[in-house]
Amino acid sequence: MKTALVTGVTGQDGYYLSQLLIEKGYRVIGLIRRNSRYDIQNFVADIGNNNFTIEIGDLTDLSSIINILKKYDISEFYNLAAQSHVGISFTNPISSTDINAMGVVNCLEAIRIVNEDIKFYQASSSELYGDTEEEFQNEQTPFRPRSPYGCSKLFSFAITKNYREAYDMFASNGILFNHESPRRSINFVTRKVTSTFAKINAGTLDRLEIGNLNAKRDWGYAKDYVEMMWRILNHNTPDDFVIATGEVYTVKHMIELAAKYFDYEIEWDGEGVDEIGFDSKTNKKLVVVNPDYFRPAEVEYLRGDFSKAKKILNWEPTTSFKQLIEIMCDHDKKLFS
Ligand code: NAP
Ligand code: GDD
Repeated sequence: MKTALVTGVTGQDGYYLSQLLIEKGYRVIGLIRRNSRYDIQNFVADIGNNNFTIEIGDLTDLSSIINILKKYDISEFYNLAAQSHVGISFTNPISSTDINAMGVVNCLEAIRIVNEDIKFYQASSSELYGDTEEEFQNEQTPFRPRSPYGCSKLFSFAITKNYREAYDMFASNGILFNHESPRRSINFVTRKVTSTFAKINAGTLDRLEIGNLNAKRDWGYAKDYVEMMWRILNHNTPDDFVIATGEVYTVKHMIELAAKYFDYEIEWDGEGVDEIGFDSKTNKKLVVVNPDYFRPAEVEYLRGDFSKAKKILNWEPTTSFKQLIEIMCDHDKKLFS
C-alpha cells in the first residue's frame, strides 16, 4: 500500500483529494495545524476511513514536516496547505507569504533531507497570471501576479521547478484555475452567493452584499480537479500543467444562475457602486454592491487553456458551470433551510 502525505486536509481540496487517494488504495497522512476549536475526531469520522491518519504539524515549522516524513514511508507528498484567500492576503501579507512561499521551501527541504525520492505536488494557481493580456492562459503565458497571494504563489511555483532542476527531484506544479464545491469556504464568491441565496430563500437574510460584479473566472468543480493532482504525480516525468475548463463567466452571471435556482429572476439597474440586482417578479432588491469587498488590485479575467493536460494526461472536465452551481445550491438549500 502506498502512503501519501496531504497538507491542507481541512480545506476544500484536501478533503476531496484524501477521499480519492483512499479510494485508490492509499494510506493518507493528513497534516493538520493545531488550533483551539477544531474537532479532529469529527473530521476523521467525516473522511470515514481507517486508512486516514492525522498528524499535527505546520507548514511554517520545518521540524514538524521532517518528523512526519521520518515517521512514515511516504511516496507522494501533496502540498495543498496555504492562506488561500486573495483578499485576506492584502490584510495579512506577511503570514500569507510565510505559509505560501517559505512553507513550500520547508516542504522541499524536508524531502531533500529525509528522502529525495518522495514525489512532490505543489498547489499552484491561475492567480499567477494576474492582469494577463492573453485570452487563454497556458503553461507558456507570462506570470503577472496582482496580490501578496499571487506573489507568494509565484515564488512557490518557481522554487518547486528549481528543486526539480537542481536536485532532479520529482516536483510538479498543478496550475489550477478556480474550482469550487459545497466544501468551499463561505468567504469565496461562489459559495458566498449560493449560501446567501439559500438564506434569502429561507427568510433568514435580506440581501447579498458583493464586490466586483464584473470579474470573470474560469470556474470548475473541485472533485474533478483533485483527480488531476494524482495524475500529475503519477505521470512518468515531473512537469507543470494548467487545469481549467476553458470557459469564462462573470460574477454577475454566476449570481443570476444561483438566484434562478431559488426561483428569483435577477435584473440589474445602476452602475458601479450604485448597481443593484432586483427580482423582476417582486421588485425586491436582492443584490447590492459593498466596496469593502473590492481589492486594492484586482484580477479581472482568467481563462485557462488545458490542452497540455488533455493531451498528456488525457483529462477533460466533466461538470458544467451550471451543474456546479446547482450542486452547491442543492447543498446550501438543505443546510440553511
Ligand atoms: P482552503 O480550503 O483554504 O484550504 C487551505 C488549507 O491549508 C486548510 O486546510 C488550512 O488549514 C491549511 N493551512 C493553512 N495554513 C497552514 C499552515 N501554516 N500549516 C498547515 N496547514 C495550513 O484551500 P483550497 O481551496 O482547498 O485550496 C488548496 C490549495 O490549492 C491551496 O494551496 C490554494 O492556494 C490552491 N489553489 C486553490 C484553488 C481553488 O480555486 N480552490 C485554485 C488554485 C490553487 P486550517 O483549516 O487550519 O485553516
Ligand atoms: N471572495 C469574494 N467575495 N470575491 C468577490 C466578492 C465577494 O464578496 N465580490 C466579488 N468578488 C470577486 C473577487 O474580487 C474576484 O475577482 C472573484 O470574485 C473571485 O473571488 P474569490 O472567489 O475570492 O476567488 P479568487 O479568484 O480571488 O481566488 C481563488 O481562486 C484562485 C485561482 O485563480 C482562490 O481559491 C485562490 O486560492 C486560487 O488560487
